Amino acid sequence: MDLRLNTSNANQTSELVNAMNYDPELARDVQEGLKQTPKRISSKYFYDGAGSKLFQQIMELPEYYPTRTEFKILEEQQAEISRFFGLSDFFHLVELGAGDGLKTKILLRQLLHMKADFEYVPVDISGDILKLLDSSLKTELPALKTDSFTGDYFKALHWLQKNKEGRKVVLFLGSNIGNFEDGGDLEFLQEIRKYLNPEDKVLVGFDLRKDPRTIRQAYDDAAGVTAAFNLNLLKRLNRELGADFNLNQFEHFTDYDPLSGVVKSYIVSKKQQTVTFSALNHSISFAAWEAIHTENSHKYTPVQIEELGEKAGLKTEQFFTDEKHYFADVLFRVI
Ligand SMILES: C[S@@+](CC[C@H](N)C(=O)[O-])C[C@H]1O[C@@H](n2cnc3c(N)ncnc32)[C@H](O)[C@@H]1O
Repeated sequence: MDLRLNTSNANQTSELVNAMNYDPELARDVQEGLKQTPKRISSKYFYDGAGSKLFQQIMELPEYYPTRTEFKILEEQQAEISRFFGLSDFFHLVELGAGDGLKTKILLRQLLHMKADFEYVPVDISGDILKLLDSSLKTELPALKTDSFTGDYFKALHWLQKNKEGRKVVLFLGSNIGNFEDGGDLEFLQEIRKYLNPEDKVLVGFDLRKDPRTIRQAYDDAAGVTAAFNLNLLKRLNRELGADFNLNQFEHFTDYDPLSGVVKSYIVSKKQQTVTFSALNHSISFAAWEAIHTENSHKYTPVQIEELGEKAGLKTEQFFTDEKHYFADVLFRVI
């Protein structure tokens, strides 16, 4: 890499220094994803520090019903949900993709109130959000035992298998289950199932099918926060891989297909252009209006949820839902 070309201002220099210490997994995934047709980048890369903060803003948007709805479900049914966990003996309360734990804290408070003997094990790919969660738990719930893990779901399951034996209750809230590629939700539940024993439980948040307009608006808010969240991915690649994406030349686009029940989000190139990744010695061309697929958000029917569980070796024990049937937290036991 030729540093002389890039020393025109301090920001560019510090971005290059960052890019020289790049994450090889991010580099490999992005390079491979942008070679594909259609181009794609995994949504797991949304969550750098800025991305995690933007997601916290999304959760407060008037259009973004999932957080509000799941919050209410947990708030109103916390005691019943907690009883389903089985409170007579010790368990690890593992949360995959915990984020800032906003909604989980409802259950954590309830479990402490019920004198449950448990350890909370939040897992997230974003170290920034886990730090925030850890420090808020220390002040808000000082009696809570915690042990967090930073890394992706699959690495976490491997770590959990070795380090967290004994009874487990796994939380997978916020409709993260909907973010996999087609069929990835089943594969992932099967992976979770491998880690579990017959006395273990899983609570999964599913976004349910509803008026397609309500769903579409949740991913395309009027204030443009979701657009900023999607485009922040390019900022991350500029900073971490020395790419030169011009953010004015790309835009956020999203749509919901009520037949498949999937919201797909894209970053669209507004013109023909070439982007160079200086850290990787690599360039990539975009045709005018070519899209990078960045996220899936699957919406489910109750029947699909039960079938998904059965195929993964999990039996539906209870649906916890809201009055409009917008969202469901579904408790499974191991078959
Ligand atoms: C949509 S947010 C939801 C957060 C939280 N579960 C909630 O309901 O508010 C998704 C969270 O999962 C994390 N995440 C996304 N993909 C991940 C992956 N492959 N492995 C681990 N964490 C992941 C993100 O960093 C983010 O904090």
